[in-house]
Amino acid sequence: MNKVTVLGSLNVDSILRFKRFPKPGETLPLTGKSVAGGGKGANQAIAAARAGAQTTFIGKVGQDQEGTFMVQQLTESGVDDRFVQHSDAAATGSAFILLDASSENRILIDGGTNQLVTAEDVEQAQSVIADSTFLIAQFETPIAATQRGFELARAAKQKTILNPAPATDAVPAELLAVTDLIVPNETETETLTGVHITDEASMVAGAQKLQALGVANVIITVGSKGAFWMRGGEHGFVPAFKVDAVDTTAAGDTFIGALSSVLQPDFSNLAEAVRFANRASSLAVQKLGAQPSIPTQAEIVAADQTK
Ligand code: RIB
Ligand code: NA
Repeated sequence: MNKVTVLGSLNVDSILRFKRFPKPGETLPLTGKSVAGGGKGANQAIAAARAGAQTTFIGKVGQDQEGTFMVQQLTESGVDDRFVQHSDAAATGSAFILLDASSENRILIDGGTNQLVTAEDVEQAQSVIADSTFLIAQFETPIAATQRGFELARAAKQKTILNPAPATDAVPAELLAVTDLIVPNETETETLTGVHITDEASMVAGAQKLQALGVANVIITVGSKGAFWMRGGEHGFVPAFKVDAVDTTAAGDTFIGALSSVLQPDFSNLAEAVRFANRASSLAVQKLGAQPSIPTQAEIVAADQTK
């Protein structure tokens, strides 16, 4: 069984649904409103745990009801919360998810305590990092904390996975130098490499640029189309399963968490792991909300047998 540690964000997601965006000065009714656990880090941890990995989370919540709620979402899915700190210096992170009829989301974020995670917080979890098959991080918590975590993982000869989301062009070279697998989507790939992703040739070009920056293994996720992978000189494209999406929030997070639960530490089964991860995210997009939509291992396996 893989041991996975996720360093990252926890957000309470407020989901607002409506037919179309209002024009400036216009007022429109919502067609639905709900609250669910979210945050890229917490979503990835829950996805890894539900898919069968022994999972630990490193992050920070506020000393508020939202913080209690977020930690509860982790522990109910079996994620170890020993390294989730409760701070009174800010409120728990929150996100506002705007969903129009197209089911393509737009997200606004108030980082809150996620922005207070430090390198020292990560050092407290050193023994767990050193014992984890994979350490996963994103960009909703400070890069300095991620840098320290990845260095600790590398020092212990464990592997690191970076999901460079949300997109930023300010990714330090020293972080990529300690990253074993990077998992950007098309936009994030373009931000990092300047390569506009249109077809498989552009994916090869983008992935090669990421390899040149020091990351040996690359997966580029392309939404409902599927995912492209590159390991050393090998590469391939694994098409997504065709489903009717109701909410794509956390599809990418589910992909990464599920992937980490089945991936070999030498990345030798990358294509097979991508297929499993595609199946997991195809289930997540069929349900509303981030964490409520993340499938269990049994659900992923069952879906694979029926189609
Ligand atoms: O990746 C989806 C997540 O991004 C949401 O759950 C929201 O909280 C934002 O962090
Ligand atoms: Na979803």
